[in-house]
Amino acid sequence: MKYSRNILVTGGAGFIGSHVVRLLVQKYPQYRIVNLDLLTYAGNLANLADVESRPNYAFERADICDAPRIEEIMRRYEIDGVIHLAAESHVDRSIKDPFVFAQTNIMGTLTLLQVARTVWEPQGYEGKLFYHISTDEVYGSLEADDAQFTESTPYAPHSPYSASKASSDHLVRAYHDTYGLPTIISNCSNNYGPYQFPEKLIPLFINNIRNRKPLPVYGKGENVRDWLFVEDHARAIDLIFHSGRVAETYNIGGCNEWRNIDLVKALIKVVDRQLGRPEGSSLDLVTYVTDRAGHDLRYAIDSSKLQRELGWSPSLQFEQGLERTVEWYLNNQEWLDSVTSGEYQRYYEEMYSDR
Ligand code: NAD
Ligand code: TYD
Repeated sequence: MKYSRNILVTGGAGFIGSHVVRLLVQKYPQYRIVNLDLLTYAGNLANLADVESRPNYAFERADICDAPRIEEIMRRYEIDGVIHLAAESHVDRSIKDPFVFAQTNIMGTLTLLQVARTVWEPQGYEGKLFYHISTDEVYGSLEADDAQFTESTPYAPHSPYSASKASSDHLVRAYHDTYGLPTIISNCSNNYGPYQFPEKLIPLFINNIRNRKPLPVYGKGENVRDWLFVEDHARAIDLIFHSGRVAETYNIGGCNEWRNIDLVKALIKVVDRQLGRPEGSSLDLVTYVTDRAGHDLRYAIDSSKLQRELGWSPSLQFEQGLERTVEWYLNNQEWLDSVTSGEYQRYYEEMYSDR
């Protein structure tokens, strides 16, 4: 079959990537979607069990730092669009081991950019696009009464994770400005939803509430995050990939700011109710622990450009999104057990032994 587009999605076996792959595979049978993923601890092909047998889906296990391998894959599938999500994504891990973040997020992105340029430049850039998925964390931290981040907020990353993502964003812009590679970047706020690895706040806490384990709230729980349901992010990515303007940046956010401690209390309510426990019975699990080093106080993102130019807006109220997310985790115990065995246990024992 001749496909009208051949799109390489990197990191497609991860949390957001799997939602993007599912959306594209189902919505565009005329496209071939190639999922390129190294399957690190965060990548899981079970996330895509419902679409893996579709004829327009292909999987390649590869490292984005492996230039010859990426080049071979891009040529074999005649890739004309890249949606780049592969990354090390967890701030706490970046504090423990910054080097792997620099390697994957900076060198991996640079490698992909260079390979895309090598393959596409001689063909001409018409009809090609390198779309880089980034985070609002590159903008740094807001005070309680600061205005939201816009696309022109200067970069001021604080964690090794956000510094590595900021570097990769700069490289993407440099490849556009220097070599003419057609690029787009989007910077999104905190995502939540099914298939998120239970190291991030929401799935970790759902799992711990279910198992009557402590809920480690960093510092006083006063940090603020802007939460977006992952399927709304995937819809935004689809829209920007098809209709975004080259060389532009788009902010994506939920307009949904929560202090961590308020979010944790709301989550406890939903989990207790869905488990049939008396209201508030898991509140005793809340445990205040030593704050994260360099913990950004507040993220909040202004996504009016995306709303104005491309007509996107979040579709789900946070309450609905939380209900759906809790329901999914409670109904998918097998998935949780499979990702929380072995290496994960060791990591968490180590992570919390010094808190
Ligand atoms: P994730 O950790 O769940 O998934 C990352 C995926 O990348 C995994 O499947 C992993 O196997 C793969 N990967 C890692 N290193 C690789 C390598 N060297 N080569 C190939 N594949 C590799 O991450 P996520 O939360 O889905 O985030 C995806 C992207 O979105 C990241 O770029 C992240 O910075 C960005 N982002 C995430 C959020 C969020 O709230 N999770 C918000 C904004 C932006
Ligand atoms: P996280 O899900 O790691 O996302 P990010 O650091 O990228 O925003 O954390 C969300 C917020 O929750 C952040 O302020 C840190 C806090 N947090 C806790 O208080 N306890 C935890 O165990 C975790 C993982 C996060």
